[in-house]
Amino acid sequence: MGAPSTPPANFTGGNTQGLDPAPVPTQAGLDPIIVQVITIKRFEFDGIDQFKYSTKVLDIGTGTGLWPIDFADEFPGAEVIGTDISPIQPAWVPPNVKFELEDATDTWTWAENSIDFVHMRYLFGAIADWNGLFKEAFRTCKPGGYIQSCEIDPAFCCDDGTIDYDLAIRALNKLVRDGGEKMGRSFCVVEERLQLTAAEAAGFVDIKEVNYKLPVGGWTKDVRLGEIGQFLKSTMDNDIEGYTLILWHDILGWPKDEYQVCLMNMRKALKNKRYHAYMNLRYVYARKPEQEKTDEE
Ligand SMILES: C[S@@+](CC[C@H](N)C(=O)[O-])C[C@H]1O[C@@H](n2cnc3c(N)ncnc32)[C@H](O)[C@@H]1O
Repeated sequence: MGAPSTPPANFTGGNTQGLDPAPVPTQAGLDPIIVQVITIKRFEFDGIDQFKYSTKVLDIGTGTGLWPIDFADEFPGAEVIGTDISPIQPAWVPPNVKFELEDATDTWTWAENSIDFVHMRYLFGAIADWNGLFKEAFRTCKPGGYIQSCEIDPAFCCDDGTIDYDLAIRALNKLVRDGGEKMGRSFCVVEERLQLTAAEAAGFVDIKEVNYKLPVGGWTKDVRLGEIGQFLKSTMDNDIEGYTLILWHDILGWPKDEYQVCLMNMRKALKNKRYHAYMNLRYVYARKPEQEKTDEE
């Protein structure tokens, strides 16, 4: 990673700039990225074909329910349930989709061994205990069932040093890392390998990871990634205040009077065409082992 994890010595906590993802990022802002990203990597793993038939699928922390709707359209034989603590899901959905209010950090209400496929996406900043979350996914998954977890880190990274001395980006990265730590709910799930550790600890097998560097802005030569980068940049530009406000003022208590200047400098950094920043995104796929046969069977 090219981006330093701490601000330079003369960083005072704010008159540079700083941004941070909000504890609950605005759904509207994330949607364009989501739509783009899932077209890179959708429902791809060994065994996906079985979802053509009668299966029960859970989407945890579903938000506006984009993923269940897409999945249900593609696999009409599946019953797809999206859960969330916020009732922000649409009413007009495919007949094989429904939504339920449920806190993913509590014990799930779904019975043991009852779900064929558990999907979780963009829960960074929302989960204190990733091992606990994956433990519930494991418990509710049928033997031989699958999970898919997708997370993105809001910290800016770079491989060619072009962002290394930008104080706004340094402040953003510090805000994200320190804010997550103080809240006890990390925003840097990819960096901390939390999905992988949790999948392993829960007992899943055949754990696979697929990693992407998502450019911030259209600087990459790859046309598809460039398009995603433009979405990502626009989203950040639009939502930066929503992402940073609570962390800056309430969680970390950084100097109030420096916040607006920081925001302005962050927006300037986003527009800087010489910068080659990206965010890390990781898909983790895993399978619950088939039940071991006992001697009596
Ligand atoms: C960034 S959104 C992602 C939405 C969706 N997964 C997607 O990819 O489009 C995070 C969602 O997680 C939900 N969430 C946060 N904490 C939660 C919890 N403890 N239990 C269930 N959902 C939660 C939020 O309400 C929000 O809708």
